[in-house]
Amino acid sequence: MSKFYEKILENNKKWVEESLALDPNCFEDLAKGQNPPLLWIGCSDSRVPANEIIGAKPGEVFVHRNIANMVIHTDMNMLSVLDYAVNVLKVEHVIVCGHYGCGGIKAAMGNSSIGIIDNWIRHIKDVYRLNQKVLNRIQNEEERFNTFVELNVKEQVFDLAKTSIVQSAWKNGQTLSLHGWVYGLNSGFVTDLKVNISSNEDLDEVYQLIL
Ligand code: CO
Repeated sequence: MSKFYEKILENNKKWVEESLALDPNCFEDLAKGQNPPLLWIGCSDSRVPANEIIGAKPGEVFVHRNIANMVIHTDMNMLSVLDYAVNVLKVEHVIVCGHYGCGGIKAAMGNSSIGIIDNWIRHIKDVYRLNQKVLNRIQNEEERFNTFVELNVKEQVFDLAKTSIVQSAWKNGQTLSLHGWVYGLNSGFVTDLKVNISSNEDLDEVYQLIL
């Protein structure tokens, strides 16, 4: 077995010991149930660990991750996570967290075929097309890349708001705020993009559901 594989099993034992030293009841308490106030939708990238970035303990954040933190309305996995978080756990915040240097976003700017993932990346290309006037005006490639990362996060926050799940929650008077963040791989800091949508009236009329 590889050294790395053995190391992670060993790490787990250490983590249990350290956690119990801090709070002898921590696992017993966690086993009783969860009540996280936050749903995190982030990128699968190994360098963007949800809990660590925001200092959240086990039980404090419900997490969904996929390539380039996408909110795709036919993605049953994302819909199930969102529905459970909003309607059962009653989270009060949903954060879509993208990150600079995202490989999925970079791939969407280019034309190379990578495989099956091309079909996932296509959704990101749609976001490029939606914003191409702004993006094509940016000469510096790095700057264009960074702006695309930010625009994609904003679009995903709007896509969240367009779901029947979020619109129903708002209609029922549930407290639910949506946020768009970008994480800096080289700084560790997040930036709040301040996408403020708190009712379906902030959406284009065609997306407003009568519930
Ligand atoms: Co990424």
